[in-house]
Parts: sequence; C-alpha cells; structure tokens
Amino acid sequence: METQKLTAGHVKDKIVAIRVDFNVPLKNGKVSENTRIVESIPTLKFLLESGAKRIHILSHLGRPKGINDPQLSLALVQPELEKQLGQTVEFRGDFTPGEGRIQLHENVRFYDGEKKNDPQFIQSLLGLGAEVFVNDGFAVSHRGHASVIGLASYLPAYPGFLLQKEIDHLTPFLSNKKMAGLTVVVGGAKIETKVKVLEHFSKTAENILIGGALANTFLAAKGFNVGGSFYEEDQLEVARRIIAAAEKNNTVIHLPVDVVCGDTMESEETSTTTIEKVEGDMKIFDIGPKSIKNYQDVLNQSQTIIWNGPLGCFEYPAFAAGTKQILKTIAALKSSQTILGGGDTLDALKKFGVNKSAFTHVSTGGGAMLEFLEGKELPGIEVLKS
Ligand code: 3PG
Repeated sequence: METQKLTAGHVKDKIVAIRVDFNVPLKNGKVSENTRIVESIPTLKFLLESGAKRIHILSHLGRPKGINDPQLSLALVQPELEKQLGQTVEFRGDFTPGEGRIQLHENVRFYDGEKKNDPQFIQSLLGLGAEVFVNDGFAVSHRGHASVIGLASYLPAYPGFLLQKEIDHLTPFLSNKKMAGLTVVVGGAKIETKVKVLEHFSKTAENILIGGALANTFLAAKGFNVGGSFYEEDQLEVARRIIAAAEKNNTVIHLPVDVVCGDTMESEETSTTTIEKVEGDMKIFDIGPKSIKNYQDVLNQSQTIIWNGPLGCFEYPAFAAGTKQILKTIAALKSSQTILGGGDTLDALKKFGVNKSAFTHVSTGGGAMLEFLEGKELPGIEVLKS
C-alpha cells in the first residue's frame, strides 16, 4: 500500500498539525547544525502557500524523559526556524492554539504520554483543533509515539515532502538482489544498531568499508589484538556471522590495515601503526593512511555509495583524517550516486566544510535511516498508508 501524496486541496482553509524532527544539536542555547530545520522548510512553505488556515508544528528535542527541561525547550529552535522560514513563528509553551498562523509548540517529550502513545495525550494534541496531519519527521518515524502515529489515527494524514524525498531515495536499497558497484561505508561505535543493516548489505553490496570503533570489534573477531581499544566483546560472534555471510555472498568486507592510536581521544601525541603491531594498552581512534588509500581505491570504482557513521574520533584533530579524507573523496565523485546519513555524519560535513549539494542525498535520519534500510516498516510511515 502507498502513502497518498500531499496536495494543496488537502490543506486549503484547514488547520494542520505537522510533525517535524527538530531534534538538532545546540551549542550555548543556539542551533549549531540546522539541516533538519532547513529540510522542513519546503513543506512548511507549501502549507502556507496552499492556504492552510493555521499550522501547528510539533517536535521533540533530545530525550527529556517526561520532564520540563528548559535546556531542551523548542523555544531555543524558534529563532532559527523564523530565520529559515523568513517569517514570524509564534511559540506556544503547551498544546493550546494561539493566534499566529504558524505556531511552534513545546517539546512533546516533556510529557510521558508522548512515548507511550497515550490516548489521553493524543486528545490533548487534538485540542489544537487540527483537521489534517502531516508527517515530515522522517528522522523520528521509527518511533511509535503519540505525535508520530497517534494523530494519524484520528485525522486524514499525509507525508510531507522531506519524508517523501527520504522514502524515494532510500527505497531502491531495500531490494535483496546484489547491486553491482554498491559500496557501503559503516562507522560509529556500536554494532547493535548496525547489525541488521550490515546483514542486509552483506548480501546486496559489493563492498563494505568498516571504520570507527565498529572496526575494532570486527578486527577482534578476526583474531587481531586491538590493545586497549574500545570493542564489543559480547558482539564478536555477531561480527563473525556477518563476515561469514559476506563471504558466502561475495561481498568484500574491508577492515583497516593500519590505525592511528593515542592514550586518549584528546591526545595530541599519536602513533600510526599497522594493525598487526597494535598491542598492550594502545587505543585505536582512527584508520591509518594505508587504510584511507585502500578505501579511496574502492570508492573510486563504485557506482553507488551509502555512508552512515564516522570512521574515527573526528571531533579531535589528531583523529579526524580518516573521516575527513573519505568524506572529501565521496564528495568529489561526480558520476556516482552518493547517500549519506546519521547525526554524526551531518556534524562531520559541517566541521570539514563539505557542501551537502556534493551528494545525491543527505538523509536527516540516524536510527530511522538504518531501520528503513534494514527493511523494517517504520510506524510513522506505515500509519500514513491507506
Ligand atoms: C534522532 O536524532 O535520531 C531522532 O530525532 C530520534 O531521536 P531518538 O533516538 O531520541 O528517538
């Protein structure tokens, strides 16, 4: 079943509630990375231009666990939203309607009922008077929460343009068939959130390039000494299973052949060594220059690239090279299809001054992108299918 396309006729003269994902990084109380806000603007403008009577914007910010935390108030996002939208937005500290044509409401996660999809909380959201619901929060569509799925059960519900764009770009990768020229780059810390996606792509990709702490677990699973590096001991069998599945399906899993180590992530003194020479309490924080070159060679021959998760501790200059070089390599590939995702990946783009327009698609989703790609039905999307 398909979602229905959002049209002007659906919203003209109507009160619209729209779920977005404005869960954006903040620094000193200001938005420090605005992609999720920028990407929501086309739908918001469309609602305005199509004659929506009133627009109520709903979002979460962070994980406040049902308590009012001023540092996670959506009021902090209001100035950036007004800047991007080019017009005044009324901030409402609760879920009662105000006077403004466009209203941003307080963090839905200040209420316990949000995560529980509690009928009473849904009723308080319905108190806004919305006649139509739009979901444009792809990044939160893997959560069965009240503002994501609850309202959609009571109101005519449509996907926003950002949600639709994400679905359109990611759906081709759900196929279980081998995709010629597909390389998947996976980094980050924990195997747990990536295991299903790795299992999927160990069947369909030609190459999987692994970095970050995730690589340590794979290296340990292959019998390498990773010294005092972070790795997941309880996930070694999982890693071995993925390696075996990849071998069976002719998918090559590439692991670092050399690494950059330090005492701590803050260390300015580092040592670069081959993986065979890691010992004692040496801690790996980035992939080394030979690994970067190997990964670049693979990427330069790939037609399609999907990347989720940094390859090292790129926040620290001494361990930034792996993520930076690989990001720049992918950005320079003009004839390949390139898809990026994950919160850290957006931060890396900003940090290294790489323009989003260099890629075919930069997903706003972190966990949502991974769950979508592993083939899971996301509740926030499923509920829109009629
Ligand atoms: C995200 O940043 O991935 C989304 O906003 C979802 O946030 P959550 O993991 O706290 O549900």
